[in-house]
Amino acid sequence: MKIIGTGSALPKKVVTNDMLTEFFDTSDEWIRTRTGIETRRILTDESLLDLAISASQRALDAAGLKAEELDYIICSNVNNNYVYPSMSCMVQGAIGATCPCFDIRIACAGFVYAMDIAESFLQTGRAHKILVLAAEEPTRFCHWKQRETSVLFGDGAGAAVVTEGGEYLGARMTTISNTEVLFQRNRLEPTPFEVEGVYVDHPMVMQGREVFRMAVSSCSKEISYLLEETGHKVSDVKYFLLHQANMRIIKGIEQYLGGTDEQYPTTVQKYGNTSSASIAILLDEQVRANAIDRGDLIVMSGFGSGFTTGSLLMKY
Ligand code: UT7
Repeated sequence: MKIIGTGSALPKKVVTNDMLTEFFDTSDEWIRTRTGIETRRILTDESLLDLAISASQRALDAAGLKAEELDYIICSNVNNNYVYPSMSCMVQGAIGATCPCFDIRIACAGFVYAMDIAESFLQTGRAHKILVLAAEEPTRFCHWKQRETSVLFGDGAGAAVVTEGGEYLGARMTTISNTEVLFQRNRLEPTPFEVEGVYVDHPMVMQGREVFRMAVSSCSKEISYLLEETGHKVSDVKYFLLHQANMRIIKGIEQYLGGTDEQYPTTVQKYGNTSSASIAILLDEQVRANAIDRGDLIVMSGFGSGFTTGSLLMKY
């Protein structure tokens, strides 16, 4: 796999920590010290689809490709206003692509899983040019009476166009079924046959400390194994593009693996946790800042509800 173009898009509304004190008993100091988040972007008059289309178009422009040339669109998305069709189907029509598309729902680790699926398609020759997209609006999953979760998230979309000809050195995906630490239950239409109490909707539940612990432990181990398996050292890697959930989680992984602060770029301070879009947005920012050169080794690693973790190592 070779990344030939990246793009991202964020809502225009910047929400500061101080603005959130209007809705919750919280403070800029608490949010900064516990998470590193200073601002996040939240959708107002745009839709998530608008962001997904912009990020995709930017990635295609950067790759110098027309949408008709795509062989597949894979989109990571947990939820949006449409139950169906999938986000990738809606993006396909809007950008003028004609290829098959599908969405995956693996929460915050979704972009890494989508990249790994894209690599398999390239390996088997099923596709040659793939748009890998992550579009998420986690601020719409939060129960806006819960300060524990609502202060953490932001909305956004990021995309990469990939093709053959690069070096995808390895990946490790881990799924540990744990539905208790981070979940949300949807409201479904009741049927006359439903037995009361079987289907209950529930706003987001997050056992923050447990998710924190699992994230640091799982990502750190997975990246270590990945480097060991492929015969690489931490110092060989230019950037660890980690899921941007909490600055303290990023620092925890850095402490375990070692390396310098420069190897762990962050956007969490600006955008909060944008779920699976966070790694795609971070990648695009590094590419557009000319911070990554061809041949640089990059690791992408995400974690989230499931509990899922996904890490990959490739040459940019
Ligand atoms: O994408 C994956 C999804 N999620 C994550 O990655 C989240 C992982 N977890 C975390 O990032 C952290 O656990 C949190 C940021 C969610 C919480 O930080 P913490 O240091 O683990 O705090 P805590 O949950 O232990 O809460 C400490 C205190 C509690 O008060 P008491 O019991 O000590 O009096 C909370 O009620 O902070 C209180 N608290 C708040 N205070 C002000 C919780 N949320 C807030 C808030 N503002 N927003």
